[in-house]
Amino acid sequence: MPKYILAKYIPEYSGREITLKGWVYNIRKSGKIWFLIFRDGTEFVQCVVLKNEVSEAVFEMKSTLTQESSIAVTGVVQEAPRQETGYEILVKNIEVYHVAEEYPIALKEHGIEFLMDHRHLWLRSRGPYAVMKVRAELEQASRDFFNARDFTLVDSPMFTPNAAEGSTTLFETKYFDRKAYLTQSGQLYSEAAIMALNRTYCFGPCFRAEKSKTRRHLTEFWMVEPEMAFFDIHDDMDLAEEFVESLVKRVLGNCKRELQMLERDTAKLEGITRPFPRITYDEALEILHRKGFEVEWGEDFGAPHETAISEEFDKPVMIWRWPAATKAFYMKRDPEDERYVLGVDMIAPEGHGEIIGGSQREEDIDVLLRRIETEALSREDFEWFLDIRRYGSVPHAGFGLGLERTTGWMCGTRHIRECIPWPRTMVRLKP
Ligand code: 4AD
Ligand code: MG
Repeated sequence: MPKYILAKYIPEYSGREITLKGWVYNIRKSGKIWFLIFRDGTEFVQCVVLKNEVSEAVFEMKSTLTQESSIAVTGVVQEAPRQETGYEILVKNIEVYHVAEEYPIALKEHGIEFLMDHRHLWLRSRGPYAVMKVRAELEQASRDFFNARDFTLVDSPMFTPNAAEGSTTLFETKYFDRKAYLTQSGQLYSEAAIMALNRTYCFGPCFRAEKSKTRRHLTEFWMVEPEMAFFDIHDDMDLAEEFVESLVKRVLGNCKRELQMLERDTAKLEGITRPFPRITYDEALEILHRKGFEVEWGEDFGAPHETAISEEFDKPVMIWRWPAATKAFYMKRDPEDERYVLGVDMIAPEGHGEIIGGSQREEDIDVLLRRIETEALSREDFEWFLDIRRYGSVPHAGFGLGLERTTGWMCGTRHIRECIPWPRTMVRLKP
């Protein structure tokens, strides 16, 4: 028998005496019996303390133990069908590591700003706990997906001289006697890397000085970005669809307990199978006009538009072939109509917004140079990027999936700030 076990494994020890180490989540008292809801970061378990099963000192802990006190509980695992886990602990002994001071987050409703100010403590609660588990599963599932498909992980730098996604959201920082930006996307570096390694992905934080306070924008978020040599826009959409389907399957398979804690309606996720609907920007515009929105051709879509379009489908919808002016300089012009670029956005169902942005990349150096000029980007800083088009240029494509928005969709979380351990927004830098 191990010295102590993690609470998630109690079903394997049914009928046996074990020790758990963790924290007091809650205490409920009633006469000759009290209940301790225990958590150790792997599960939440009810422990039953009966007067005639423990020493008097342990029984009296009902008045001295406080929420979040740290303890070791020894007891017998018994079946308890009414418990979420199906088991509870009949307590034999409790050892105390530390009696916690009065905990700021009592088990009642608190305002979101209060909870966010106490994020370092709030992470211990059931909701944040479950969301962090789902986020970690998505991250690992992403790595597994690409590693299993001949992709090589090539991470991009965080300091860069280049604006990948427009100059309005750049974080500028002093870099010795020069200036640098925090990266908005690893894509430009991935475009170089695939010429060496064919298919690559990078996975890391991205930084954007988003000045709007929306529930979909962070200033620091994580993106997984695959990039593929010899892929066109259709190959790109095929891969994006396969990737997202695989993520949903992984979460449904491995995060059942977390989704249950979050009271997520999993039926909505179970229907997410290929193929996903694919519509062009022009078709999306028709949907919006039909639903009464006044959007002119050439305008970008905002959150209400995305939600209105996604309401037409019960799966993620891919909108492709965008007016060039709505998209970044590197997207390939549609050879059939110069007004469009071969870009794609994937919009999640249930109003969770754009989870993927991707495109086929412009491989013609002259077209790229013109775009760099009209976007007022520094040609000098992009010379290295232009080299990719000078030496063995090939058709290529890629996309980026936002980890927090995808986590929010899986968990049914309304606000993206709950989908990253330490959210950074225009108004939040602490804790
Ligand atoms: O559509 P975006 O801007 O695309 C790119 O950055 C491309 N360079 C990716 C590529 O092709 N390799 O961003 C991609 C995704 C969005 O769909 C969204 O999910 C997420 O990144 N995202 C954000 N998530 C949270 N907060 C923000 N401020 C975000 N900006 C983008
Ligand atoms: Mg986008």
